[in-house]
Amino acid sequence: MKEGQPKAIELKDYQVPAYLIDSTELHVEINDDVTLVTTTLIVRKNPESTAGTSDLVLDGGKELVTRSVKIDDRDLSSNEYGEEPEVLTLFDVPDNFTLRTQVAIKPQDNTALEGLYKSGDMYCTQCEAEGFRNITWYLDRPDVMSKYRTTIDANKSQYPILLSNGNDVARGESGERHWVTWEDPFMKPAYLFALVAGDLQHIEDSFTTMSGREVKLQIFTESHNIDKCDYAMLSLKNSMKWDEEAYGREYDLDIFMIVAVESFNMGAMENKGLNIFNTSCVLARADTTTDLGYQRVEAVVGHEYFHNWSGNRVTCRDWFQLSLKEGFTVLRDQQFSAAMGSPTVCRINDVARLRGAQFPEDAGPMAHPIRPDAYIEINNFYTATVYEKGAEVVHMIRTLLGADNFRKGTDLYFDRHDGQAVTTEEFVKAMEDANGADLSQFRLWYSQAGTPVLVIDGEYDAGAGTYTLNAAQQCPATPGQADKQANHMPLCVGLLDSAGQDMPLTVRAGSDGVSPLAYIENADGQQTAVLNFTQAQQQFVFEGVTEKPVPSLLRGFSAPVKLSFDYSRDELMFLMSFDADGFNRWEASQRLAVQVIQEVVGQIQQGEKPQVDARLITACQNNLDQAVERNLDSTFDKAMIAEMLVLPSETYLAELVEVADVDAIHSAREAVRDAIARQLSGVLLAVYKLNQDDKAFEPSATECARRSLKNVALAYLMQPDDTEMVPLCVAQYKSANCMTDTSAAIRALVNSAAPAAQLAKEEALTQFYHRWVEEALVIDQWFSVQASSPLPGALDKVKALLEHSAFSMKNPNRLRSVVVAFAFQNNVNFHSKDGAGYTFLADMVIGLNSINPLVAARILSPLTRWRKYDAARQELMKAQLQRILETPELSKDVFEVVSKSV
Ligand code: PHE
Ligand code: ZN
Repeated sequence: MKEGQPKAIELKDYQVPAYLIDSTELHVEINDDVTLVTTTLIVRKNPESTAGTSDLVLDGGKELVTRSVKIDDRDLSSNEYGEEPEVLTLFDVPDNFTLRTQVAIKPQDNTALEGLYKSGDMYCTQCEAEGFRNITWYLDRPDVMSKYRTTIDANKSQYPILLSNGNDVARGESGERHWVTWEDPFMKPAYLFALVAGDLQHIEDSFTTMSGREVKLQIFTESHNIDKCDYAMLSLKNSMKWDEEAYGREYDLDIFMIVAVESFNMGAMENKGLNIFNTSCVLARADTTTDLGYQRVEAVVGHEYFHNWSGNRVTCRDWFQLSLKEGFTVLRDQQFSAAMGSPTVCRINDVARLRGAQFPEDAGPMAHPIRPDAYIEINNFYTATVYEKGAEVVHMIRTLLGADNFRKGTDLYFDRHDGQAVTTEEFVKAMEDANGADLSQFRLWYSQAGTPVLVIDGEYDAGAGTYTLNAAQQCPATPGQADKQANHMPLCVGLLDSAGQDMPLTVRAGSDGVSPLAYIENADGQQTAVLNFTQAQQQFVFEGVTEKPVPSLLRGFSAPVKLSFDYSRDELMFLMSFDADGFNRWEASQRLAVQVIQEVVGQIQQGEKPQVDARLITACQNNLDQAVERNLDSTFDKAMIAEMLVLPSETYLAELVEVADVDAIHSAREAVRDAIARQLSGVLLAVYKLNQDDKAFEPSATECARRSLKNVALAYLMQPDDTEMVPLCVAQYKSANCMTDTSAAIRALVNSAAPAAQLAKEEALTQFYHRWVEEALVIDQWFSVQASSPLPGALDKVKALLEHSAFSMKNPNRLRSVVVAFAFQNNVNFHSKDGAGYTFLADMVIGLNSINPLVAARILSPLTRWRKYDAARQELMKAQLQRILETPELSKDVFEVVSKSV
């Protein structure tokens, strides 16, 4: 390691804090030039610490300007404390004392958006993970919990609204200024602190909890967004109700506030009683927000609300435990969304997200277990692994134990650890203790990285009436973890007879006399065996099997693994039609599509003309025919059909092979889309027309399903270069009564190479921009539609967009609408052979490094995946990583990701 390079923090070095802070009083005086923070802490030596020190070591950001340090009201002299960058050490302090510090900060210059900063005209905070230290000197670690009392003092007319956690207990004014004091009765770690000062409007509602307490609900925004808060309010009330019913969790304060801010690094933040949201995750209005946007609002509002228990009441001991709150809370928000809409479609989207983001991460240089054992910068561990795979791990516990027993486990967990800062171990222990279960081998999921690969084959013995699954699991090596042990996972299996019905299941005990069967789930026509798969190689024998079955494996995606089973295309078509498990019907459609696309990739690589297997076309036709026949049948799930018609993404197709041929994958997928579009044009148009409707927008699951099927059909209709559907698409663009339809139409135009679409797309883009110039989130879509277009020449387009007056590096949403859309969602153009896409991304990372390190490190991940590509591209990508690494004053965030990748 070079001198001066940042050091890794390791889980094994964890020690309890040497001091505790029983009470935290903040006085924040906001002025245009400088904000003064006066902090009064009641400090005491931690009786559990064996560190044997009498020095108090506080954390503080680089920008703090210390004005005074007092112990028990006495100013410390310069030899009683030492200030180094980011550390303040108070020498030889008493066992109990009051510490008062005053610092000056400049939120208006804080472009990293961590700590106290300005979003437009308002002040707001983001303290997770380590932002609080940018506000004041503190013990900024989640196992130091304290009671907070916060006074905000600001100009009355500029900042009429002053908010913090808990209840407002006092207020006053003098001259042009006013102040409000907030008190939070719950102990909390500093990362849950929040403060807002601004000229805000709000909507208000109330919720009566299960024990009959009335809670005031408020959503705050700047005035131009106040008409887009209703859906978030509805989602909040639904979340509160759902958490009472599904987990027995009641809200605990008299007020719950959400504030929408425009500049925010992530989605949203669960600060106690005062959630702060990226506008993109809270605002929704029919004409500005797509169905996907509505779903995101519902999911994120739920997610942050659920954190009140899984995260706030029971919090994390240290940041290695991040998945304790995030994995569990993602599972909770997924269950909530499923309960509000179509469970199968939700599951499909969750799995697609896992495969699209987490699988590649787990196969790359940043691969880490859901409980990492070392980090340089914790910001880099808010990952798909910690969140999405973390949710899958808790999901597996639920599957292994069964829903009711899982609930017993969560009840015990919340009960036992309320008010504590705990570890993932304590979560698993509660699950075991509540059920007398043994999850010792299961714990490997917390410490082992990598996506296990399952290879399964099936053997039918007609004479014995047995069907045997020979299953093998293997987990590939990941950085720092060469050898892996076998994982314990639930393998959910059904066996279909020739009529497509689930067979009754009997599972034979293993050679050790122990049955691998956890239980059999019987639900509407389903017979699913939940099997304990624990060995590297294991046989599962089903008895009394009267004919050769088609197995439905890993039902509901019962484990986050890659499964290989040698299905014939006819078997896949059979599963698509008959599998009682909806997720596996979709999965069969995807497997069939993968096989067919991979075949076409081979043909393209051989210079042959693409031949698309007719069975895939037939499968799509069956789905479309059904959509016509059952158009008015309310039990028919249009969203599910839409999902089955969407081909696997280029990212996922790349993920499935050792070395990805980006161009061939793109051309093959396009060729298959083209074949479907041409051969099924009649029925596609029929489905489109049947689902075209101009009744008023409703965000309901049924309406959303109708729109998604219609817009999938539209995208196919617009696929061929000689399409005649441009007028139809333009008509939809012009007459659309909701952003879902507007955006599907403009996307189809922008992505079309058809000569007839060229003028139409320019007109639509111009019209769209002027129509929506006041709506930041819609303008984000305008940028992103263009930056993600797979047509040739996208990079020049993207560079032009950077010059647009509405572009800004300082607003993360706007930045992502161009850079993420290009580098993450536009594979062909990003990976163009000349390496120009790579140079562009590196330039952006270098530019952003000094402005917003957290976001800079996040956008660079496509470059870290260089091992996936051919030798020439590998060299080009590595050269750009090297160039980033040589940038002076590289942030810890970027340094960690780049240094691990080269
Ligand atoms: N804890 C936030 C969540 O709910 C995520 C977050 C992390 C937000 C860091 C901001 C900064 O997932
Ligand atoms: Zn979260």
